[in-house]
Amino acid sequence: MKFPVTSILVRVLALTMLILALSHVGQSKGSGWKQGGSKSSHGHKSYGSTHGQKSHGSKGRHVGRGNNKPPKNIPTPITPSPPLSPPSSPPTPTRPSGLQVGFYKGLCPNKLVDIEAVLEIKVQEHFRKDPTILPAILRMQFHDCFVHGCDASILINGLSTEKTAGPNLSVRGYELIDAMKAIAEAQCPGVVSCADIIAIATKELIKLGGGPNYSVQTGRRDGLVSRAQDVNLPSPFLTVSETISAFSAKRFTTEEMVILLGCHTVGVSSCAFFQDRLYQGTTQFDPIMDPTLRQQLMPTCPKGITANNSTFLDQNPRSSNIVDNSFFNQIQKQRGILPIDQALARDPKTIPFVQQFAQSASLFNTKLANAMVKLQALDVLTGNQGEIRKTCSRFN
Ligand code: HEM
Repeated sequence: MKFPVTSILVRVLALTMLILALSHVGQSKGSGWKQGGSKSSHGHKSYGSTHGQKSHGSKGRHVGRGNNKPPKNIPTPITPSPPLSPPSSPPTPTRPSGLQVGFYKGLCPNKLVDIEAVLEIKVQEHFRKDPTILPAILRMQFHDCFVHGCDASILINGLSTEKTAGPNLSVRGYELIDAMKAIAEAQCPGVVSCADIIAIATKELIKLGGGPNYSVQTGRRDGLVSRAQDVNLPSPFLTVSETISAFSAKRFTTEEMVILLGCHTVGVSSCAFFQDRLYQGTTQFDPIMDPTLRQQLMPTCPKGITANNSTFLDQNPRSSNIVDNSFFNQIQKQRGILPIDQALARDPKTIPFVQQFAQSASLFNTKLANAMVKLQALDVLTGNQGEIRKTCSRFN
């Protein structure tokens, strides 16, 4: 025989749990990316060389080989059932406030337009004509994100905006961003941010360059601040420890720093950043550099002459514009170009990561995709923050 009090207690408990469960239906299931964050630049030595544009060679390319699936993290708004009892606190909004894959789906006047796909086609066209757009935009993304977050602050024209700061003088690729923005404004006026356009272009170019095909998150807003004095990017002459500090100030681990520096698998550097490593008697002279490489670089960057020449950051001639792990093989062979790149293969704090990435192409791809998602989410503006610029090179 059952004891009636227990039975009543069980029923009361069950009813309470049902009410509690119902009152939580409809809460936000955001993608987990936080809004805003610290915008202060870190206090590390920055590089301020004022080098101009350089001639960039172009290399072959091959088809993307990544296969990451888009995460299914787009929240579906749920209509709450009528409350059984008056709610004790105001309902939490169901609208996501952070970044998410496919943010723009259904946001254009023609709801069927997939604006991100349209923009990707523009990137593909540009890449076919000029593959050096890959390193150009990849570097632009880094320089944008490390100063005030990924908010397109690097795009602003003006007397003393970020664009005019030393390290940014050789940043290229603005014409692609402007062309993409023109397409976005024509099909979807006032909706797509310039910060997202950089992110979409970067992601697409990494794929076109043979790197991982990851799902880019969107929903960034454009920043309202762009000051040259805030540009405090790490210098290529820093030690590994100093560079680790610079990246950790932006919440990146040493491993993430190493993989991100692996983006030097594409693109070029001008002589100013490695010339002294070639010549005895300079403070930067590097006696361990591969002697063949040294001989090859000497005519490009003659001693004591400020030549406006450049060389590939990845000295594997078959892979200089391909996003792969060959950069790590090269630095292991003492064939790095930038002082910091070469230092990664010599410092005990980074050697294990260099070894792993050099050994495994698939590990390189996975870790690069993860690090790019993190870089592209750095201190982003979302929700009602910032603005959606009408023209990427000026504030509204
Ligand atoms: C400690 C960190 C870094 C330093 C010191 C550094 C430094 C440099 C320097 C000095 C150059 C040559 C610029 C020139 O000749 O004008 C360069 C090029 C480049 N950097 Fe970095 N970089 C760093 C991190 C990154 C990251 C994280 C990325 C990408 C996510 C990146 C992507 C690139 C690319 C793609 C180029 C080639 C640009 C072109 O060919 O136009 N860099 N970097």
